[in-house]
Amino acid sequence: MGYGKNIRQILYGGDYNPEQWPEEVWAEDMRMMKEAHINIVTLNVFSWAALQPDENTYNFEKLDRIMEYVRENGLKVCLATSTGAHPAWMARKHPDILRTDMNGIKRKFGGRHNSCPNSPAYRKYAPRLAAELAKRYKDYDNIVAWHISNEFGGECYCENCERAFREWLKKEYGTIEAMNKSFNTDFWGHTFYDWDDVVLPDNRTEHFNAFGIDRTMFQGISLDYRRFNSDSILECYELEYDAIKNITPDIPITTNLMGFYKPLDYQKWAQQMDFISWDSYPAPDDEPAVVAMNHDLMRGIHDQDSFVLMEQTPSVTNWQPYNRLKRPGEMRLLSYQAAAHGADAIQFFQIRRTVGACEKYHGAVIDHAGRNDTRVFREVKELGTELEKLGDTFLEGRTPSEVAILYDWDNWWAVEYSAGPSVRMKYMDAVKDYYTAAFEQNVPVDIIGVEDDLSKYKVVIAPLLYMTKTGYDEKIRSYVRNGGTFITTYFSGIVNEHDLVTPGGYPGNLRDILGIWVEEQDALPENESNLFFYENAEYPAEMLCDIMHLEGAESVSCYEEDFYRGTPVITKNRFGEGTAWYIGTRSDRKFYHRLMADIFRDSDVHHVMQTPDGVEASERDNENGKFIFLLNHTNEEKDILMVDNYTEMITGRGIKTGESLRMNGKDVAILKVE
Ligand code: GLA
Ligand code: ZN
Repeated sequence: MGYGKNIRQILYGGDYNPEQWPEEVWAEDMRMMKEAHINIVTLNVFSWAALQPDENTYNFEKLDRIMEYVRENGLKVCLATSTGAHPAWMARKHPDILRTDMNGIKRKFGGRHNSCPNSPAYRKYAPRLAAELAKRYKDYDNIVAWHISNEFGGECYCENCERAFREWLKKEYGTIEAMNKSFNTDFWGHTFYDWDDVVLPDNRTEHFNAFGIDRTMFQGISLDYRRFNSDSILECYELEYDAIKNITPDIPITTNLMGFYKPLDYQKWAQQMDFISWDSYPAPDDEPAVVAMNHDLMRGIHDQDSFVLMEQTPSVTNWQPYNRLKRPGEMRLLSYQAAAHGADAIQFFQIRRTVGACEKYHGAVIDHAGRNDTRVFREVKELGTELEKLGDTFLEGRTPSEVAILYDWDNWWAVEYSAGPSVRMKYMDAVKDYYTAAFEQNVPVDIIGVEDDLSKYKVVIAPLLYMTKTGYDEKIRSYVRNGGTFITTYFSGIVNEHDLVTPGGYPGNLRDILGIWVEEQDALPENESNLFFYENAEYPAEMLCDIMHLEGAESVSCYEEDFYRGTPVITKNRFGEGTAWYIGTRSDRKFYHRLMADIFRDSDVHHVMQTPDGVEASERDNENGKFIFLLNHTNEEKDILMVDNYTEMITGRGIKTGESLRMNGKDVAILKVE
């Protein structure tokens, strides 16, 4: 649904900051936006200083003029609340608004996304500004959404946060004894006697840096701090949300998320969002699978099964080490890839390139030259023309996934706080291994959380399910018992939601489902590996090798080297009507491709289409039909064999079964199944 039921087209536009420009420039902006078929602007993202010069004064004069001008010019508005950066006077008069970093250093005024989430001043003034804005602009019928703050994130270790953390813990545990038990404080005599003994886990207390990563001596308290910090920031979002909802109940509310952003548990956040919007800034060397995986994560956290692409650069970023230009056709390709994975609006950061401070070399629709004959402007305009023509073709389309990959923020935090077995163990890497295998075979995937239903999927993959929360084993058990195919990996089923080991042998509560007992884990350094055979081909066993015993499962493959040579590395267990696989090590891309191809075939999983290497096929279905997005991520021409009769929606051309569609490098086709 995204921007709402009344919007029957893919909205197209971006962040627009006319307050940074003299008014003569606005007319030029309007002319150029019209030429580019832009129909939506995100306004007012960083204007708190201008809107509220002191405690009790609000000044909306300039914003009034902008709002009027934009409305007269027929643009829709996503209106931001401006609370992503606080004004200087507020920092001077209410220093509680300033954050304290992990080393205990209290920040001064500067930067952005800089307010302490437990600051009384922030919690008072931010929702107040949101309410003032809602009151003032509630009758503008071109406002299609509210955009709260901007890219919420970070963390704070100040005294207000410390006090709030104690309250959070009281609510969570009820008694100090329960909390001590959960943190296992008998270790090193860390027993807390009083709630006030609790201090934040930071570099002054339990944290330290080793091997270039942030480590903790007490995972339990650090994990709870992560949950608390995500909740604290979410409360700030909710305060603004409620303030606005009271006044404009019918306008949907969002905030721009950031994909795999570790500090905030977006699955929890999504419950409080009317729709999902997010900012996609892939690094130049990110594979298409990684970009798609981010979109699928963002799509999967909300039951609308779609999102708004709130920001992407039309050409270049300014903040990466090497800010490589998007090549001709690349912005269009990435835009359609977003659409293929659930985007119902395509927006840029930003419309006009700024002249000062750190983003002056960040790409924009209108660059410093201010002309419409630039490569970037032409590409923006061409895409705008296409999207306008496509109208509501694939709008609100759903992704027909039969495969789910589990992603759980608590597990993410816990895996990467784990002291041992390996610093190389990264949750996203494990997920990427399996996601990429599905992506390469054009198998649509939902990325789901622990609250989501499993029964609708033919295959569920839970890579590196280190933390198996109480009751989740039962969910997996009944899924497999009823015929599902479940896959998990090394270092799974180890701890509960408090990061306390489930005694009795690994993988804990998953042992009966998997039919194995893992006795030891061998962590291999970067240049060492073991090996195994699968379907007559040899593959490496890297990073972590689980050494296990069969307890009912069948061994699919064994290690070939070292003292555990001949013991199982891959197992498969019949459980009820279903099958549970355990992949006891990390291997290479070829292996995952092969294994998943076999599992997809055996589980009768649907592939969108057969395509040559480097050409993605993704699908979205709505009441207008079934739409297959073909995305040529390579620079070469590719021929794709048609297995049905289609209409290509961008050109309107019909293509018949047996014909071959020739696609240029970086080209896109949207096939409607006839
Ligand atoms: C983020 C922010 C924008 C801008 C862009 C630049 O996504 O939300 O304000 O800073 O990055 O890439
Ligand atoms: Zn704080």
